Amino acid sequence: MKTVGIIGINGMVGQKLLAEFQKIKTPFETKTFGRKDDITPLDIAVLCTDNPDSRVLAQQLKDKVRFIVDMSSEFRLEKDVPLVIPEINPQTITADTHLIASPNCTTTGLVMTLAALRGHYTPLEIFFCSYQAISGGGKKLLEDFHAPGSLYANNCVPQIGSIQPNGYTSEELKGIFETRKILDLPDVKVYPHTVRVAVENSHSLGVTAKLDKPADLDEIKKRMNAFPNLKYTDDIITPKQASGQETTYACRLRRDLYEPNIIHYFITFDNLLKGAAMNARQIVELLLEKF
Ligand SMILES: NC(=O)c1ccc[n+]([C@@H]2O[C@H](COP(=O)([O-])OP(=O)(O)OC[C@H]3O[C@@H](n4cnc5c(N)ncnc54)[C@H](OP(=O)(O)O)[C@@H]3O)[C@@H](O)[C@H]2O)c1
Repeated sequence: MKTVGIIGINGMVGQKLLAEFQKIKTPFETKTFGRKDDITPLDIAVLCTDNPDSRVLAQQLKDKVRFIVDMSSEFRLEKDVPLVIPEINPQTITADTHLIASPNCTTTGLVMTLAALRGHYTPLEIFFCSYQAISGGGKKLLEDFHAPGSLYANNCVPQIGSIQPNGYTSEELKGIFETRKILDLPDVKVYPHTVRVAVENSHSLGVTAKLDKPADLDEIKKRMNAFPNLKYTDDIITPKQASGQETTYACRLRRDLYEPNIIHYFITFDNLLKGAAMNARQIVELLLEKF
């Protein structure tokens, strides 16, 4: 029987992934590893760890593990590493693949909605402002949020990740470059603004997209609803409702008042599920079925 390991079992994503594994129908054996455990040879290892740790672990496991799925941003933009959302680009995993990256949570929700339009509309420019949940920052940030005097309590903080020399945050740069790679649109212009808000779970984004032709709102809603794990609703939907759900929700779709090619909408989705553990579980399912 194939063995699948969760490395970083004590973190937020590791714990969610353990629960997600219950949904996999193909039989396999689960192994879990914390920081102090020796990792045994595995068929698949999911690294639920942060950047420097993931690179060290991937190197250590190179000859011990057939497939590595990494949740961190460490390898996402490397040319030979597929950056995979199974609803969008499963074909980027081939028999030669060893390392697979799972995308940034905010980017995942965004590209789910834009991939749904493929074949009919191509986005030329994408602006988004994010309202990102505390759980997206891992267990330490969640502890900080609940501690007295937290900066994040009853607040919104316009910095996620580190500020780069060009003034962008590292989270904003992920939104640009990961979107281009996943949608295979190397020239699409992405204008991100990322903000942490006092919401415990589920990320939201206000999105403005300029399309290659005038927008037909009914067509866009139809395409979003035909896309797996995505739902458009004319109701108002909030992160509270998206929490614990596998669905990425879109609402408030409207055409720009000045430009018929421009649409505006709101999305919300569980960052720990579709933004992380559910996406990893789907990649593991794909690997177990296909290879
Ligand atoms: N949270 C999200 O919504 C989200 C979404 C998408 C992607 N991600 C990415 O997923 C990864 C995990 O995020 P998270 O939110 O779960 O962070 P987290 O709550 O901080 O958990 C990270 C875990 O990794 C463990 N760890 C570190 N080095 C290790 C090692 N060498 N061996 C085994 N375990 C090790 C830590 O162990 P200790 O408990 O001993 O410190 C901790 O339990 C990060 O790269 C993050 O960027 C997170």
